[in-house]
Amino acid sequence: MTEIDFIHRFIPAKAAGAARTLLLLHGTGGNENDLLDLGQAIDPDAALLSPRGKVLENGAPRFFRRLAEGVFDEADVIARARELADFVDAAVAHYEIDAKKLVAVGYSNGANIASAMVLLGIAKFPEAILFRAMVPLSQTSPVDLAGARILISAGEFDPIAQPGITKALAELFRHAGADVTLKFQPIGHELTPRDVALAHQWLGL
Ligand code: MLT
Repeated sequence: MTEIDFIHRFIPAKAAGAARTLLLLHGTGGNENDLLDLGQAIDPDAALLSPRGKVLENGAPRFFRRLAEGVFDEADVIARARELADFVDAAVAHYEIDAKKLVAVGYSNGANIASAMVLLGIAKFPEAILFRAMVPLSQTSPVDLAGARILISAGEFDPIAQPGITKALAELFRHAGADVTLKFQPIGHELTPRDVALAHQWLGL
C-alpha cells in the first residue's frame, strides 16, 4: 500500500455509516486547515480529508508548480496529480473511506489539481466541486468521464480563472461525457456564501 505521505487532516463523519467524504483541496498559500469550515458548511454530515499541497512557492503551499500566474509547469501538474491520486488511494484504505462517496472540493489551485486528475483519468472521486477553476493541461489523451458529475462555480469578473478559461474547462469535461453544471456569479476570485449554497444544493442537501 502507498504511504499516506501528505500532511493532512482527516475528520471523521459525526455519524458512522453512509456519509460522503469531501476531499478538500486548498488554493495557493493555503493549508490543510483552510477549507475545513467550507467543507463543514457544504455538508455538515460529511467526513473531511484535507491534504496540504507539497509544492512551495516562496513559502506558499500549492499542489503543483507554476512558471508565472496562470502558466503551469505541466510536467509537474501530471506528476503531482499522480502523487495526489496515490495519497487518496492510501487514505481511502487507511481511514476506510467509501470511495464511491468521495467528492473533491477544490478552490483555485486546488480546483486545478482536481481538474488535472479528472482529465488524466486518475480521479479517485466520482464527483467534484470546483471553485474558480482553470484548464490545467493544454493537451490530454481522451478519457471517458461518463458517470462523473462536476459542478464548476465561477466568477464573471475573476481576473485569474477568467470566464473563457473556465468555459473551456467545462467543455473539455462535457466532451468526455461528464455531467457538468457551470454557474457564474457577478464576483471575482474570492469565495462567497453563494458558492456554499450552490454546492450544498448540487449535492442534493
Ligand atoms: C492560484 O492562485 O491558485 C492560481 O492562480 C491558480 C493556480 O495557480 O493553479
